[in-house]
Amino acid sequence: MEFSVITAGESHGKGIVSVIRGFPSGVDFDRDLIDRDLRRRQGGYGRGGRMEIESDSVQVLSGFYHGESLGTPITFWIKNRDWDNWKEFISPEERGEESREVNTPRPGHTDLAGALQRGYRDCRKVLERTSARETAGRVAAGGLAKTLLRYFGIEVVSRVVRIGGVEDPSDPEPRDWAGLTSGSPVRVAGDEVEGEMMAEIDRAGERGDSLGGVFTVAARGVPPGIGSYRESRERLDSRLSAAFMSIPAIKSVEVGLGREVGEKPGSEVHDEIYHDEERGFYRGSNNCGGIEGGVSNGETVEVSAAMKPIPTLTSPLDTVDLVTGAETSAAKERSDVCAVPAASIVGEAEMAVTLTVAFLAKFGGDTLEEIERSYTSYIASIDNWYGGG
Ligand SMILES: Cc1cc2nc3c(=O)[nH]c(=O)nc-3n(C[C@H](O)[C@H](O)[C@H](O)COP(=O)(O)O)c2cc1C
Repeated sequence: MEFSVITAGESHGKGIVSVIRGFPSGVDFDRDLIDRDLRRRQGGYGRGGRMEIESDSVQVLSGFYHGESLGTPITFWIKNRDWDNWKEFISPEERGEESREVNTPRPGHTDLAGALQRGYRDCRKVLERTSARETAGRVAAGGLAKTLLRYFGIEVVSRVVRIGGVEDPSDPEPRDWAGLTSGSPVRVAGDEVEGEMMAEIDRAGERGDSLGGVFTVAARGVPPGIGSYRESRERLDSRLSAAFMSIPAIKSVEVGLGREVGEKPGSEVHDEIYHDEERGFYRGSNNCGGIEGGVSNGETVEVSAAMKPIPTLTSPLDTVDLVTGAETSAAKERSDVCAVPAASIVGEAEMAVTLTVAFLAKFGGDTLEEIERSYTSYIASIDNWYGGG
């Protein structure tokens, strides 16, 4: 069975659930890794009041025994503390005395498109699911994927490279990203632009406005040969693009040099091939972002994504009331001003999950031990390409 993740849950409901299938047995549960990622997703300069209420931590409902995976479906649950403030208004089982209907759809959110799709006048029926609270479930599943990838020396990191009009001009090696970004409230590597980014967020907040930006996710240690050139949908770049595009508010995804490839000649784009005994095959550059023909080539896999500004504005945009038809201002839900740092953590989760799908397609087995055997013999065959060893 292919490794897969599905989440369920409403923003102000009892909690967010992730169900994970196709995960092997014999993998140790690492709560610290998963909870640390959940906290990283909650953080970041520019986030709204909701994240002060929540203190996310994963609870395992199924799929582990004595701290070790069973190879059976895994269920994670992340409690919504805010449920206590909302239970009278959005009970899943019965309508209470009061509700918190939203009849004034926000431009840029799913409110109107979702309401039209289902004939709703109350956009809460849509927005409770399309709120990015759901991404907590993806991050928990991503943490699980990271625990597996870690056995094989694969590390997933990220950094924010732009917030609104401020870009980070630095270009550090991915091996340094975790250290450079961990103390930064905007998760930026270049500390000279950190203050400017935060000031940009402050200014947008004061205007009642919001900001987007760009982040990059890198996976180090990915062996060559992950993904497929056999079928279009199995290409690793195709899968990664779909995965990153599935993050709410992501509007463009680029692999490696991305759209810049259209501006340069081949001699400046393609990564020349070398070989030596210690490194094996390696490249003089990594413009292709570690993927050629839909298959990993052994270099760091790199994906960038652009996030649009948050649609909920405290100086709301024009809209139309779905009940009366009157022109009015869009709804104001409690909201972030900028969530690019948080989205970069969701990006790490999407990278980890997608690589795990492709990794298990190549090395899959029922148990971690079987996967290790398959991986080790494949790596040995590449290490001994020209004989010896
Ligand atoms: C981590 C994260 C946090 C977000 N926080 C908010 C928020 O507080 N308020 C809001 O209106 N949108 C927020 N969004 C964006 C909306 O979820 C998104 O714009 C909406 O689902 C519409 O989807 P689309 O932009 O992909 O069309 C957030 C997105 C992410 C990834």
